[in-house]
Amino acid sequence: MINVAIIGAGAIAGVQGEAFAGFPQWCQVRAVCDLYIEKAQDLIKNKGLSQAKAYKTMEEAIQEEEIDLVSICLPPSVHGKTAIQAMELGCHVLVEKPMANSLEECDQMLAASRRTGKLLSVVCQNRFKTPMQRVYRMLQDGVGGKVLHAVVNSLWWRGENYYDLWWRGTWDSECGGSFTSHSVHHIDLLLWMLGMPEAVTAVMKNVGHPNSELEDVGMAILEYPETFAHIGTSIVDYGEAQEIVFQTEKGRLNIPWSPAAAVPLSNGFPKQDESRERELDELYHAIPELELEGHGAQIKNLLLAIRGEEPLLTDGTEGRKTIELIMAIYKSAALRQTVALPIQEEDAFYRKETMIQKMPHFFQKTKSIENFASAEITLGRDVGK
Ligand SMILES: NC(=O)c1ccc[n+]([C@@H]2O[C@H](COP(=O)([O-])OP(=O)(O)OC[C@H]3O[C@@H](n4cnc5c(N)ncnc54)[C@H](O)[C@@H]3O)[C@@H](O)[C@H]2O)c1
Repeated sequence: MINVAIIGAGAIAGVQGEAFAGFPQWCQVRAVCDLYIEKAQDLIKNKGLSQAKAYKTMEEAIQEEEIDLVSICLPPSVHGKTAIQAMELGCHVLVEKPMANSLEECDQMLAASRRTGKLLSVVCQNRFKTPMQRVYRMLQDGVGGKVLHAVVNSLWWRGENYYDLWWRGTWDSECGGSFTSHSVHHIDLLLWMLGMPEAVTAVMKNVGHPNSELEDVGMAILEYPETFAHIGTSIVDYGEAQEIVFQTEKGRLNIPWSPAAAVPLSNGFPKQDESRERELDELYHAIPELELEGHGAQIKNLLLAIRGEEPLLTDGTEGRKTIELIMAIYKSAALRQTVALPIQEEDAFYRKETMIQKMPHFFQKTKSIENFASAEITLGRDVGK
């Protein structure tokens, strides 16, 4: 039986608690930890985690409950040090997105995983959704031929008061705005499907969140040897219409799914290619639906990987790629220049302290509250359709 501790009893911890509870044959949540112990107690009660006790610190929980797996649901600025400490104390680690503050911390986490032999997995629950798996498989199988252009619209909406929570809205504690906290999901998906670009050019601003130092809109253009991709990020988009689109030689592969194909008329204008569209649609639907999606599916894979029954699908090296691209985006936007990848160790954007000095601070955070009255969150409208 894998003994689990959930560290941080806020909004996402509830989603994780439910997910772990789905596998009573392999694991039990034995501890929930939070600075505010009453939040840990509430989570245990509300999610029916009857085998769990509430703790204030992770160290105490690991010692008392013989924990094997720690799930880190804390603010981003403490992901790195908590993960390293947990691995040093003999636990496997699942860490929420974003993996860490900086590439330096990602590398320290990866080194700790190698040193201790403990698994390190970064949450990217959207990979574990049927439309993502289908489009991924079609791209891997070369169904459309070459990708000519990719468009990612990672559009979200958050009210001004979103940034009132104490750890949000500063470079120091949140490590980034909409690119890091929201579009991290789509950036992970794009890198998984298309790979790392050679160079990035980006711009960003804060247009509607005056209690935050961070960006709330931005645009990044990614250069690949034979294609471009662009990522739009926003948290001022009503309706949160999100999409990932691959325009390939043989048609459009996209999420949400709506295949399109065309053949040229004699003047080069398009004529809809209905038979190709039907063919793409059949290939898409021939890939089976996942029985389990999101956090539950990722956690199942991690539990089976700990038991030695499946390879770990999303490890720390995958999480690091997303942070690397985001750091390249920030460097480009801050210095107003095109940035080549990879980011080297001697680069100011490899370390948190030197990176923050270079970043624009759009507004000063002046309002701060310890907790919201409700822990209810939404996880993106179209991201899994
Ligand atoms: N995968 C997703 O879709 C998704 C969605 C939302 C949030 N997240 C991520 O999950 C993480 C947590 O976000 P959240 O929305 O749940 O935040 P939250 O503020 O609701 O919860 C964080 C909890 O951690 C506690 N805490 C803070 N520092 C602590 C410490 N040092 N020791 C013990 N407890 C501490 C806080 O009291 C709080 O209860 C963030 O990294 C966020 O980006 C992921």
